[in-house]
Amino acid sequence: MERLVIRGGKRLSGKMNVHGAKNSALPILAAALMTDDVCVIHNCPQLTDIEAAIKILEYLGCKVSRQADTVIVDSKGVNRYDIPDSLMREMRSSVVFLGSILSRMGRAQLSFPGGCEIGLRPIDLHISSIKRFGVEVKEEYGRLFFEVKGKLKATEIVLSFPSVGATENIMLTACCADGVTTVVNAAREPEISDLADFLNSCGAKIYGAGEGNLTIEGVKKLHSAEHTVIPDRIVATTYMCCAAVTNGSILIDNIVPSHLGLVLPTLEEMGCFISIDEKSNALMITAPPKLRRIKNIVTMPHPGFPTDAQAPLMAVASVAQGTSVFVENIFESRYKHASELARLGAKIKVEGKVAIVEGVECLSGASVMATDLRGGASLVIAGLCAKGKTEISNVYHIDRGYEELERQLRLVGADIKRKE
Ligand code: EPZ
Repeated sequence: MERLVIRGGKRLSGKMNVHGAKNSALPILAAALMTDDVCVIHNCPQLTDIEAAIKILEYLGCKVSRQADTVIVDSKGVNRYDIPDSLMREMRSSVVFLGSILSRMGRAQLSFPGGCEIGLRPIDLHISSIKRFGVEVKEEYGRLFFEVKGKLKATEIVLSFPSVGATENIMLTACCADGVTTVVNAAREPEISDLADFLNSCGAKIYGAGEGNLTIEGVKKLHSAEHTVIPDRIVATTYMCCAAVTNGSILIDNIVPSHLGLVLPTLEEMGCFISIDEKSNALMITAPPKLRRIKNIVTMPHPGFPTDAQAPLMAVASVAQGTSVFVENIFESRYKHASELARLGAKIKVEGKVAIVEGVECLSGASVMATDLRGGASLVIAGLCAKGKTEISNVYHIDRGYEELERQLRLVGADIKRKE
């Protein structure tokens, strides 16, 4: 089993490069299926979740090739509409293929994606929304069968919660439906806007992405397109947190400042100095020798504080002066990393949605286990500033969302190695 071994205490300095956004590339790869043509997707990160999505495309009949960060999807030969259990289990977000398979084939079959480390992850909003397009849904033996007689019919949808995945599935289903679909309370994350940009470059007519209400005028067919995926705002956040805990000074390039939302003022409130060069889309972060606590971090749908940044910021708060309060409103069990941080000496008390972090002078290295993708990242951040050696197992969680994290960190002076 692979693990990361970190010797903490090194001050990080230098330049880090942010790769493409996993949570944008995944729905865009699914969307490429709908074009019955060749799509070229640049800045597609090399991550295990992306490889899982490519496996699903190939299973469905696409020809997929990759040249470094560019993935070419030829979806002319699509001849299947089901996703096998094994591939569904490999990646929970496979559910985002539902809309594109349904749109292309008129039917789809997949198993319940199942919960994961951060919660049950139900898909009731996906199913109730898809049904409104005239789709029949049947569930048997843990498999879901979707079928539409004739064409998908446009509809009006009001989402009770601005679910990112459900919004993506609605966009994919509505693109070629008959008529105009409207969505109220759609998710507003930058990845939603990036998916809309890709679909519109394929000939779709999606208006209002990123603003909460969507209008989607159904078109006959989508055609090939070339697209560059936006940078990963959570990877950029993670790199900033690595600088923050090591009194570091790092230039982070390939970012979109507006996508970083509340993360920037939060790190500034903790004492970091952040300057942005809009022209070159780069950000310089310089951390103080001692961080101040963050009064409170309350995760909300975008543009609120991103839930994916909660674990990384908790590692930073654990070595700040004073007590920080976190409220996790998006996922019901997204504090699993707290007990692992505690093994490194962090003082964290979890009460339901609330986590109270009392900053300590210094963490000390230990053997810990990554519990999920962002929880694993929080352990890397903590290990960078803990005294002595930290060993992190279950590294596969981290590899789902971070491309060669240890190589990037070594470039700025971290003592971090991957060991068998
Ligand atoms: C996406 O997950 C991201 N994953 C998550 O990133 C991210 O944390 C999340 O959006 C919120 O921003 C991908 O894009 C692949 P949701 P998703 O539907 O679509 C509940 C990471 O670390 N819900 O907005 O699953 C759900 O249980 C991952 O990269 C329902 O109840 O998020 C959760 O509590 C982790 N019913 C909340 O809504 C539904 O039908 C947010 O879920 C759908 C969701």
